[in-house]
Amino acid sequence: MAVGIFDSGLGGLTVLDAVTKRLPDVAFVYYGDNAHAPYGVRTADDIYALTTQGVQRLFDAGCDLVILACNTASAAALRRMQEHWVPRDKRVLGVFVPLIEALTERRWGDNSPPREVAVKHVALFATPATVASRAFQRELAFRAIGVDVEAQSCGGVVDAIEEGDLILAEALVRSHVDALKRKMPRPEAAILGCTHYPLMQDVFQDALGADVQVYSQANLVAESLADYLSRRPEMVGPGTEPAFLTTGDPRKVSDKATQFLRRRIAFAAA
Ligand code: DGL
Repeated sequence: MAVGIFDSGLGGLTVLDAVTKRLPDVAFVYYGDNAHAPYGVRTADDIYALTTQGVQRLFDAGCDLVILACNTASAAALRRMQEHWVPRDKRVLGVFVPLIEALTERRWGDNSPPREVAVKHVALFATPATVASRAFQRELAFRAIGVDVEAQSCGGVVDAIEEGDLILAEALVRSHVDALKRKMPRPEAAILGCTHYPLMQDVFQDALGADVQVYSQANLVAESLADYLSRRPEMVGPGTEPAFLTTGDPRKVSDKATQFLRRRIAFAAA
C-alpha cells in the first residue's frame, strides 16, 4: 500500500505531512530531487525530463499513484506526462486542481460551466516557471469568471529554503509581497502556489495583513487524495514500506527535513 509524493526538494514535505495525518494507514514514499532544485528557473523540457525520472523511481518503489507535490512540475510537465508518458495502469495527479476547487467553492469533479465566485482579486505567489506557464489562470478559467489574478514570481525563495537560510527567505517573501501590492493593492485572497511556501506561511500572512485569506495546498490536497482513494482504492499500489528518497546528500537533506517537520526524518539515496 504505497502512494508516491514527488517534489523538486523539501517543499513537498508540507504535503507529505498533511496526507500522512489524513491517511495514517497508507505508506507514502517521498522523492525529493534536491540535487536539481530549484525547478522554478529551469526550462519546461528540463522539468519534464527530471519529473519523469523521479516519478519512474516512485513507480519502481511500488507506487501506482504519484502526487506531484510541486506546482512547477504540475504546471510545466503534468499535462505532457499524462498525454504521452504515464502507463495505463498508473496515475499521476497534480496539486493545482484541489486549490482551485477550494477557491471557487466547488466540490471534487464538479465540471459545470464557469461561474461567478465570491473572491474577485487574487494574488498568486509562485515560482518563475509556474507563473510563466499560466497554468493556474488556465485551470481557474475553466471554473470561474470575473476573477482578477495578479501573479508574483518569487525568485530566490525556494533556493533560500533549500539552503536552510530562513532569514533570507523571509526578506525575499516580504519584498515579493511588496511588489505584488504595488500591482494589486488590496487582494482578497492569496494563493501560495508553491509547496515550499507554507514553510513561510506566517511571513506571507503577516506581510499581506490579517484580512487577506491565504490558501495553501497541503490540507486541500490531503482531502482530495482521501476522496480519490475512497473511489479508487485499487490505486494504492503494492508497496508497503514508507520511505524518503533524495537525489541530494541524504544526511544534509535529512537534517533540513527534520528541522522543517520537527520530527526525525531519515532520507536514503534515490
Ligand atoms: N515546491 C516546488 C513548487 O511547488 C518548488 C519548485 C522549485 O523547485 O522551484 O513549485
